Amino acid sequence: MDAPRGNLVTFNAWLPHPLALHYLAMSTDPSLPVSSKASQVRVQLGERSYAIEISSDAIQGFSQRIHHSIADLSHALVISDESVEESWADQLVESLRANAPDLRLSQTSVASGEVSKSIAEYDRLLQWVLAEGGDRKSVVVAVGGGVIGDLAGFVAASFARGVRFVQVPTTLLAMVDSSVGGKTGINLPNAKNMVGAFWQPSLVLIDTGVLATLPKRSYLSGLAEVVKYGVIDDADFFQWLTENASRLVERQAAAVRYAIEKSCESKARVVGEDERETSGRRAILNYGHTFAHAIEATCGYGTLLHGEAVSIGMQMAARLAISLGMSNQDLLDRQTQLLADCELPLTLPQADPDEMLPVMMRDKKVAHGKLRFILPKSIGSVELVGDVKEQAVRDAIIATR
Ligand code: GLY
Repeated sequence: MDAPRGNLVTFNAWLPHPLALHYLAMSTDPSLPVSSKASQVRVQLGERSYAIEISSDAIQGFSQRIHHSIADLSHALVISDESVEESWADQLVESLRANAPDLRLSQTSVASGEVSKSIAEYDRLLQWVLAEGGDRKSVVVAVGGGVIGDLAGFVAASFARGVRFVQVPTTLLAMVDSSVGGKTGINLPNAKNMVGAFWQPSLVLIDTGVLATLPKRSYLSGLAEVVKYGVIDDADFFQWLTENASRLVERQAAAVRYAIEKSCESKARVVGEDERETSGRRAILNYGHTFAHAIEATCGYGTLLHGEAVSIGMQMAARLAISLGMSNQDLLDRQTQLLADCELPLTLPQADPDEMLPVMMRDKKVAHGKLRFILPKSIGSVELVGDVKEQAVRDAIIATR
């Protein structure tokens, strides 16, 4: 039986004057296969299906979008990263207040950074939801990057045995990866994402305008996950990225929107095929990540951004694939060039296999003590490879210093 597929739907939200159409036709970039200003990707999961809506002014229209997607909305609990509270969360709350005066609104913010994905912060938020009169019909709205999406998502997954939630990602990384697919959770001391739940949002609302104010390093780091989709799933997209990397680095709006759409399409497709990572299909999203998690843990969290570690991790994975005879130098060269064009790091001089390997052995994806990796066969196609010899992993790390 065919697995459900994610699909891209474009819709004309900005019409209707013919002159407006003319202007848009004139301004349409011929190198972009999609010319609309707003689009929707659907994650097909039966009764848990939902839309990822992408536009450059989504937050202004937030109230309409959320009412359209969520039936019986009576209480919204907005949880935001403190760094976007004034710029974005307040705007969103105002949009809700202005358009639905009867809606009960609660708002809180969380300190920026991985440290907030803790049991203590999770506990605080649960108590807050309770104190705000949260019930089964309440809806949690997560406004921020991956930390907020994971934390607020886990609050939604567990409060009253699960309430609905909406993701409003404000970093590129969250837009193309963590806000989609329903992975929620928090960290234990020394064990990232060790407690959590699969809990799908009811809506993901991506406002690409938010990216204009994102610090450059954070924005570029998100591009690593975008490149990942090209390597694991979509050779045509990889080629498009190769030809348009400079536009992405410059944050040209149409190019950025297209890259987000294509990334979300890939993610939706993979999640639609293997929601709970049971068949191995979803594991392909972890290309470069086993190395990256070990890099982050051994360099000290915060030294490198996640996407920067993923960039270096993908280089290590490609080298490992070559040494196992699965892939060739041409793939590594193409990946290297694209990552370099995205101004991402390619090497890690201090990478130490003696420190990284024990971390890799503790990875959730280790099976029966054997190292497993997602490795590329060709651009657009990867494979889960089990029982990889430790020496080959060491060599790949050392060759990436
Ligand atoms: N970020 C990997 C996943 O969502 O499965």
